Amino acid sequence: MDDSKLEDIVAFLTDFQWIFKHSNTKFIEAGILDTLPKHWAESLLCLSHADFNNIPFGKIPASLERDLKDFLQRISDLAITVPTIIVEERHLKPIRGINPKKLQEISRLSRQIHEICQERGIAYLVDLGSGLGYLCQMLNERFGYKILGIECDEERVKTARKRQERFFPTSTGSVKFVKHFISISSWEFIADELQKAFHVDPATTPVALVAFTRVGDLTVTSPASRWKRMTEEEHKIHGKNMFQRAILDALTDEGQEVQRIKKCGERVTSSDDFVGAICGFEIRDSITGSIIPWSSEHRSKWESLCEKYPRGGELAECLTLLQTTIQELCENVILLDRKLAVEEASKGFSCCLVKILDADTSPRCIVLIATKA
Ligand SMILES: C[S@@+](CC[C@H](N)C(=O)[O-])C[C@H]1O[C@@H](n2cnc3c(N)ncnc32)[C@H](O)[C@@H]1O
Repeated sequence: MDDSKLEDIVAFLTDFQWIFKHSNTKFIEAGILDTLPKHWAESLLCLSHADFNNIPFGKIPASLERDLKDFLQRISDLAITVPTIIVEERHLKPIRGINPKKLQEISRLSRQIHEICQERGIAYLVDLGSGLGYLCQMLNERFGYKILGIECDEERVKTARKRQERFFPTSTGSVKFVKHFISISSWEFIADELQKAFHVDPATTPVALVAFTRVGDLTVTSPASRWKRMTEEEHKIHGKNMFQRAILDALTDEGQEVQRIKKCGERVTSSDDFVGAICGFEIRDSITGSIIPWSSEHRSKWESLCEKYPRGGELAECLTLLQTTIQELCENVILLDRKLAVEEASKGFSCCLVKILDADTSPRCIVLIATKA
């Protein structure tokens, strides 16, 4: 059912890509505040705080402009429904270097992988993009899988091995990390490495491929649940900071970038004057890395942008609201696209998407499962 929605969703997201296409440090430069319809912003800014906070959760205030209501309704209509199996992983042993969110993510993913592999008698896994080896080590420690971790970043492979030596020294025979950039033609390499590591021929021994990754790099990365809890004051500060930061980017020339100064002390980004706004930031040449000093030209450009958008902070928060509202559709359409791509490329596999974590716990909460019939 949802599969047939793909084209409609893509057409809709293409029309409204200005909402999520640019990084939030670039939205002024990209002219997004001029693209954001004025009557949308005005009608959003007239809402009560509760109504403003509830929009990403499908509640459409009656007072909004008609085309804005239509836009929000369309997001609800196009939503992709994903079956949910949420089982909280309790009593997790803390692991050094892993925050509680990531611990929940990899624990829940490990259990899901185990449920599928156990049923099929699979004892060998390949982790595509094994990073520092968190998932590999957990799958090995908790469920005893032999696992080959493949990672393109050499430093991460080294760190994963060091971490293994230090914290999981007995796993060196059953968890192996190799450096390789995975592409469409990597199967031969993987088969060779499985042979080398575990004397296993994947043509005769069942092996499962696993991966733990983000599906897209969208502008909003914090969970919508945080939005729900934000106070009026927090919205004000967030909008102002976002606006001020984006102005700084808009002051630079091509080939230059604004960077936060490391160890510069306290942040004063939401200041209303130029000196306060630039505090903690510097401009660097993107190629040479040399510092370009802030100048009177930057100051006058800054002043004219502040004059052009006197309610810039509030408009920035309206943009964040739209991003938060459209975010789930953006992410799920990528998952739906991957599901269809796997189905198309691998005849005989059946694919499904399953939500295994509460979105409040983690924005990475959906797994794509492809199994051989
Ligand atoms: C989200 S991290 C993986 C996390 C890891 N599995 C863990 O348990 O913590 C994704 C990893 O995939 C790696 N990666 C991305 N594309 C890759 C590719 N084509 N080949 C190999 N590694 C890749 C990245 O360098 C990154 O370390």
